[in-house]
Amino acid sequence: MSQPAAVGPVLGLETSCDETAAAVVHCGKVLGQSVATQIPIHRRFGGVVPEIAARNHLLTVLPTVQAALSQASVAPQQLGGIAVTARPGLIGALLVGVQTANALAWAWNLPIVGVDHTAAHVWSVMLQAPGLDAGQSRTPQLPFAALAVSGGHTSLYRVDGPAELSLLGRTLDDAAGEAFDKVGKLLGLPYPAGPEVDRLAALGRSGSLRLPRGMLGRQDGAYSFSGLKTAVRLHIEARRGAGERLEGQVLADLCADFQAAVVEQLVRVTLLTLKRHKLRDLVVAGGVAANAGLRAALTEACRRDRVRLWPVPVAYCGDNGAMVACLGEALLRAGHRDDPFTLDAQPTGEVRRATALVPAPGLAP
Ligand code: KG4
Ligand code: ZN
Repeated sequence: MSQPAAVGPVLGLETSCDETAAAVVHCGKVLGQSVATQIPIHRRFGGVVPEIAARNHLLTVLPTVQAALSQASVAPQQLGGIAVTARPGLIGALLVGVQTANALAWAWNLPIVGVDHTAAHVWSVMLQAPGLDAGQSRTPQLPFAALAVSGGHTSLYRVDGPAELSLLGRTLDDAAGEAFDKVGKLLGLPYPAGPEVDRLAALGRSGSLRLPRGMLGRQDGAYSFSGLKTAVRLHIEARRGAGERLEGQVLADLCADFQAAVVEQLVRVTLLTLKRHKLRDLVVAGGVAANAGLRAALTEACRRDRVRLWPVPVAYCGDNGAMVACLGEALLRAGHRDDPFTLDAQPTGEVRRATALVPAPGLAP
């Protein structure tokens, strides 16, 4: 097999949803990175408003690129290429990143590659872990399984290379992160509710509520969260209807029960599907991979089933530029190139996140 071509540091650009993120990565090491988050802007609407997201990306994209380059102490002429999230995502948001990257690639005479957002989440496991040097940082051998679990995706892949992801299964309805966000919103938690549900769940005790646990025996990577979400909604409405205030320990226990139901399904279906496909390494990536309950349950189940678990470091679970640069570096090394005159954004049919135009409770419009 021929050796992959060496490339200089790669600039990665991510604008598919509500983070404008850029990073410079070389041989899996993050040399510099910058993120301009829009979460406070969208919070008052209870979800991401696509048009507002695109307009804010326009304002922040160039300063974010400049900040990443200057933190890396890398000049444009020292770069080996540019990688940009080209799909899937909010079309206006993606367009800002893709057209900025196209213009920079043309102006700086650099190769460009458009990457898939979910594949970038998965490939972020190849980044050198923060605080570790190259010798200490270990990465999984191909082929491996990867659970990409975020606000827009809950999908299980077999990964044979940076451009070779085969879908083993996916959610039949909501993504896990979407379920966290929607249930959290019903409970009055601010967007995005996943981290807050996680924090409260750690203070609560699960087991008092009998929530449905469908799909547990599935070996085809099929997940489903909408029934669970409806069950939680009906439960919340019934208790509120009876005059109960869902706060303090009661709220924490509810979060613990909901999180336990999501985690149990993710763990059981993933490990059964892995067994069926005879895969022994499991990567878990994406925003929800930061969930403490999920990480603990996967660690325990993988130990029991003798599966090697490769959780992406929490610092790289949410949307970031380093994951895009890391996958871009691997693709450029393997000879992948796009044309900056034709590379375009592709939203695909998948909705990444619910957008609610109704202000969240307690927040002024
Ligand atoms: O990967 P990501 O940043 O963006 C998408 O590609 O969607 O994931 C964001 C999602 C949101 O739904 C957020 O609530 C969820 O990840 N999330 C979490 C946690 N941290 C982020 N969900 C559960 N527990 C967490 N600790
Ligand atoms: Zn993401």
